[in-house]
Amino acid sequence: MAAELGTIGAPEATSATSSAPPAPRPAGQVADLELRRVVVTYNRVAVAIQEVSLRVPAGRVVAVLGANGAGKTTTLRAVSGFLPGDGAAVTGGTVLYGHADLTGRKPHVVARRGVVLIPERHKVFATLSVEDNLRCVPVPKDRGDHAATLALIDELFPVLSKRRRQLAGYLSGGERQMLAIAKALLLEPNVLLADELSLGIAPALLTRILEAVRQINAQRGASVLLVEQNAAAALEIADHVYVLETGRVVLDGTPAELTEHADVQNFYLGTSDGSGERSYADVKQYRKARRWAR
Ligand SMILES: Nc1ncnc2c1ncn2[C@@H]1O[C@H](COP(=O)(O)OP(=O)(O)OP(=O)(O)O)[C@@H](O)[C@H]1O
Ligand SMILES: [Mg+2]
Repeated sequence: MAAELGTIGAPEATSATSSAPPAPRPAGQVADLELRRVVVTYNRVAVAIQEVSLRVPAGRVVAVLGANGAGKTTTLRAVSGFLPGDGAAVTGGTVLYGHADLTGRKPHVVARRGVVLIPERHKVFATLSVEDNLRCVPVPKDRGDHAATLALIDELFPVLSKRRRQLAGYLSGGERQMLAIAKALLLEPNVLLADELSLGIAPALLTRILEAVRQINAQRGASVLLVEQNAAAALEIADHVYVLETGRVVLDGTPAELTEHADVQNFYLGTSDGSGERSYADVKQYRKARRWAR
């Protein structure tokens, strides 16, 4: 658990609660999202995440940082209910949204609560136009303000209206990401789960996309849980950050705290002491000496 292995700063992982100003609430009810010691197993035997505990306080942006295969997508799947294939299941722990227990619930049940996933891959229907991608989203009747959401999409991503008749398959990576965010917005999210927004995107576009996510958070009060390999991006946008390694949370803290952390600098930011390139053996040695390792 994060608290045991290396929480930086306040023990109650809630510097996110105290630092940022309160955000306005959307029409839906935004509550805290919490994972308590969640375990996900693939094919009944392979444990992909092990006792992952993390909290997304209502209205906050929380990031999970991790390398390839760390378990980031699996963590979001445990929340969203999209656990693919045979024998993939939450086999331990609980996922709570406010007082609602979402553990092992089906994707449509989770989405009905306003907990909405922007997936890592297959974000849009490539053979449909931009307009039809947006039209096919089942807009909820019980929360949000559809007209205001359409206006926000126009404001955030004007390129989508310019390209509305174009097939989504011909959009650039960044435009596709924008369309995916727009589709998620139409579901009037209370919590946005964003899987690797930086994937395949040019740095300039990524900055715009991160700004859009921040604006969604500020204007609509939606919480955001984003998982990222791009540490710089995650640290730029989040109120609070967790580090995931081989299926476990090994560290958490504010972006300022993590930016100062030597292991984060070495392994995620590449901004260490500048002593030049390391050999494989050096890295292997260093890994053993990682401060968060037991
Ligand atoms: N469908 C699956 N069947 C079996 N094992 C899987 C499956 N999907 C993921 N895994 C395993 O679970 C672990 C976590 O994978 P996951 O996709 O969650 O990592 P990730 O942090 O999202 O990685 P990436 O940065 O590459 O997207 C990995 O060891 C992976 O091999
Ligand atoms: Mg992934």
